[in-house]
Amino acid sequence: MSLNIPTLHKIAELKTENSSVKTFTFSAKEIAKESKPGQFVMVWDPGIDEIPISIAHASPDGELGLAIADVGDCSHSLHQKHMGDLIGLRGPYGTGFSINGDRICMVAGGYGAAPLRFAAEQAKELNKRVVVLEGAQSSVDLLYVNEFRDLGCDLRVATEDGSQGYKGLVTELLEELLASEEHLDLVLTCGPELMLKRVCELMRKEKIPTQVSVERIIKCSCGACGACDLGGYRVCKDGPVFDAEALESTEFGRWKREKSGKRIPINPNVSTGKEIEFLSTPPVRFTPEYEPLLKTEVCGIDFPNPIANAAGFGVSGMLLYQYAVAGAGSVVTKSIGLQEREGYPNPTFIEIAPQSYVNAMGLPNPGIKNFKLEIEDAKYADVPLILSIMGKSVEECSEVAKIARNYPIDMFEFDASCPHTEFAAVEHNPKLLTSIVKAIKEIVQPKPVAVKISPNVGDPAGLALTAQRAGADAITAINTVMARPVDKTLDIPLLGNPTGYGGKSGKNLTVGGKQIVFTLYEELKIPIIAVGGIFSAQDVIDYARNGARLFQVGSALVSEGLDVFSGMKKGLTEYLKVNGYKNIGELVGEAHRR
Ligand SMILES: Cc1cc2nc3c(=O)[nH]c(=O)nc-3n(C[C@H](O)[C@H](O)[C@H](O)COP(=O)(O)O)c2cc1C
Ligand code: FES
Repeated sequence: MSLNIPTLHKIAELKTENSSVKTFTFSAKEIAKESKPGQFVMVWDPGIDEIPISIAHASPDGELGLAIADVGDCSHSLHQKHMGDLIGLRGPYGTGFSINGDRICMVAGGYGAAPLRFAAEQAKELNKRVVVLEGAQSSVDLLYVNEFRDLGCDLRVATEDGSQGYKGLVTELLEELLASEEHLDLVLTCGPELMLKRVCELMRKEKIPTQVSVERIIKCSCGACGACDLGGYRVCKDGPVFDAEALESTEFGRWKREKSGKRIPINPNVSTGKEIEFLSTPPVRFTPEYEPLLKTEVCGIDFPNPIANAAGFGVSGMLLYQYAVAGAGSVVTKSIGLQEREGYPNPTFIEIAPQSYVNAMGLPNPGIKNFKLEIEDAKYADVPLILSIMGKSVEECSEVAKIARNYPIDMFEFDASCPHTEFAAVEHNPKLLTSIVKAIKEIVQPKPVAVKISPNVGDPAGLALTAQRAGADAITAINTVMARPVDKTLDIPLLGNPTGYGGKSGKNLTVGGKQIVFTLYEELKIPIIAVGGIFSAQDVIDYARNGARLFQVGSALVSEGLDVFSGMKKGLTEYLKVNGYKNIGELVGEAHRR
């Protein structure tokens, strides 16, 4: 795929399909040729928002069809567009359906028919026998009925009001089909989650392989932010299509998340009369290995190895658990504040050069009270847990700290430096920073507190010294660096943040971050935690030689995946062995001793 950034495409064709869905057709060769049924693209309505849309049709000559239902602000705005208008597209993203076997059943609910239309096109090309069961509220809500028929699928329809086909639920049609003892090799399904859940229950009994397309909040769309978490899977990358068995160990069908990451019922507007338990299915407890060459002690805490994820790469506890299982020696949470925050509209994350990104997530978080559930999940892995906290005032930060001190947290990291939110003010105000650090320290002692700084202030070393004087136990450097990427054709910001500002991360930061850590080591007495463009064991070695003791990995999780942790540990271990070091601690500050 080319750079992960929206590119403008003209709407080539617009067709009203039913009461709420229009099909938008584009000529988008670069996307269409890579698309698989089940994958999705991000659709950017410039200046409004960017939303995930399943691919309903893609042809080798570049035609891309997207069925957009008028269900929210952005989709409503898109519905007002005309042929020839410019829309941003990027993708395709995620996993697709694997079309195996001979007799395939597709179960669609509402606009869930869209990705199944594309799957049916492919299945028919492969000469499969396809039965499509499509359900909707009423006949006016049915989607792609003619297209399924024209493809030669055996289409059976259910409407809840009985206006067309079977009167009732599509899952009842499925039960009927199963009762007819017709053999099925595979079931593909997409639609409302409770319908999907029922399909999975029926198929588990019948032992028929089932693939499910799941919907969650999508922000970055490429595995960075964790907004789409489903039991430790990132729906944008590990999904949206899952084998039904994989979903059994998740909250699928029970609860989902708001934009803030807060857990909510699957149907928030429907009262079940029962209290919903927003718990995760407990994973196996994980105990890390303390590796002699890599184990590290910082601020009185023993780390199995010095590599962690960076703050912000995952709101959920289950994702942090996955990082630990993948090899992280400690895990760092999203920055958490007193109040729930949903963050900025999309686009929230773009790639401006290979492995160089700009994000404006806007610090989405569920608020410290709701975050307890995530900490409990993360703690299924027995690695040190660092809570990143944020706030604009002494009072706010103190409140967060007072609640958080009751949670099983090993260390705190105060985010003084998110460059594209109102919280950035703290690092520009040394007095305020001093008061906040002192207040947090007093509340959470004896737990250590690191302060995270950025180069967005003219003098990061001065800022770090201020934090040290205020009692900080460590300095984390660096946070993202201010940027305001603009779409050149429209001359408007690419990011959804109303100011257009975001923060650069990834390869952009590797060189500058190492230099800042070198300078900080000369000035500070307290340990340095390095973050910024760490992609390889060599980056860790460079940062360590410049003076860092712990290392946080952010953007590399997007391009390298979770294997980045084990890869770095392997590379580091080899380097230490070959060069005769007994422990990574011996590397720290070496560049200053030459
Ligand atoms: C999507 C995203 C979300 C982030 N969220 C936070 C956050 O909540 N708190 C924080 O202190 N830093 C946050 N950061 C900054 C990272 O923790 C890190 O400092 C920065 O990305 C540089 O590291 P990298 O080059 O390895 O990505 C975020 C960065 C990105 C890209
Ligand atoms: S939307 Fe999936 S990780 Fe960001």
